[in-house]
Amino acid sequence: MSTTMDAVPPPAAAPALDVRELRTCFASPRGLVRAVDGVSFALRAGETLGIVGESGSGKSVLARSLMGLLPRAPYTQRSGQVLLNGRDLAGMSEKALSRVRGRDIAMVFQDPMTSLNPVLTIGRQIVQVLRQHGELDARDARDRAIELLEQVNIPAARKRMDEHPHQLSGGMRQRAVIAIALACGPRVLIADEPTTALDVTVQAQILQLLRALQQKHGMALVLISHNLGVVAGMCDRVAVMYAGRIVEEAPVRAVFAAPRMRYTEALMKSMPRLDAASHAPLHVIGGRPPNLADPPPGCGFAPRCRAALPQCQREAPAVTWQSGEHRFACWNPL
Ligand SMILES: Nc1ncnc2c1ncn2[C@@H]1O[C@H](COP(=O)(O)OP(=O)(O)OP(=O)(O)O)[C@@H](O)[C@H]1O
Ligand SMILES: [Mg+2]
Repeated sequence: MSTTMDAVPPPAAAPALDVRELRTCFASPRGLVRAVDGVSFALRAGETLGIVGESGSGKSVLARSLMGLLPRAPYTQRSGQVLLNGRDLAGMSEKALSRVRGRDIAMVFQDPMTSLNPVLTIGRQIVQVLRQHGELDARDARDRAIELLEQVNIPAARKRMDEHPHQLSGGMRQRAVIAIALACGPRVLIADEPTTALDVTVQAQILQLLRALQQKHGMALVLISHNLGVVAGMCDRVAVMYAGRIVEEAPVRAVFAAPRMRYTEALMKSMPRLDAASHAPLHVIGGRPPNLADPPPGCGFAPRCRAALPQCQREAPAVTWQSGEHRFACWNPL
């Protein structure tokens, strides 16, 4: 498999990332916490899937599960498949996974300091990733690292190479993290709230940059966000998570204009917008999410749903597909 960013993306029909029935449970004194509970989705090259959901709905655990970045058994129990260009990451050894991670699939976390090593210069960290996965010699790797820093619009890249993370501003650090993530031209990038810690202007610049790089390289992007403006501006499709499951998934327009689940509708009202046009107070979704160590038999949202039917309490809702691109799990949809 080629590892350069200029390689031709796979044909549109084949998903770059195909996730099937992914489950991640944590052992806890309260029992097994089902943080990700049977998640399936597919993503093509060049496509962006937004993931939204209340705090604690499992977005970050899903992201880490895709990357294989979780504590191992017995604390964590996993099942399901994460097919990356047809290869199942979920079944790989840690050694095999470390070859794929960074090269074929990469991740950007919310806080750049969690992914940067504070004692190494920025340049050294990029060079390390490049040399771990590629055949570049030290000199070429350094040149490539400078190119990467320039590509993410870091001014005076040559000078920044020799600086440590604490010498950079928050926005510059996040750019450096993105440069590291993109160093080997991954097919898939997972970004977990990549701009939440930054101010609005820098946020917009970084998102624009991600989008431009994504379009240029045909990368598939999974973007976790709690900001409606970010989701509307960046995503092709949106998956809505609740209690460890994707409960609705649709093209971005449909999720905004015609959500089928009341949870999605309420979530949209509770999410902040990027633009300053709306000064309306944010809606709070009443009630609490279910206990993930002891989920209810029916729909997990039923106790909080104004349209719940007796069936909703008893039976987990079946998934309905609408025109082949919109799915939802609800017994009494909007
Ligand atoms: N290591 C762990 N051990 C036990 N439970 C965990 C662990 N990590 C996460 N959880 C639980 O898994 C659930 C999902 O957490 P997760 O961090 O994925 O939520 P999230 O959707 O990313 O929320 P937020 O929007 O606040 O970032 C939560 O109930 C959390 O308490
Ligand atoms: Mg999270």
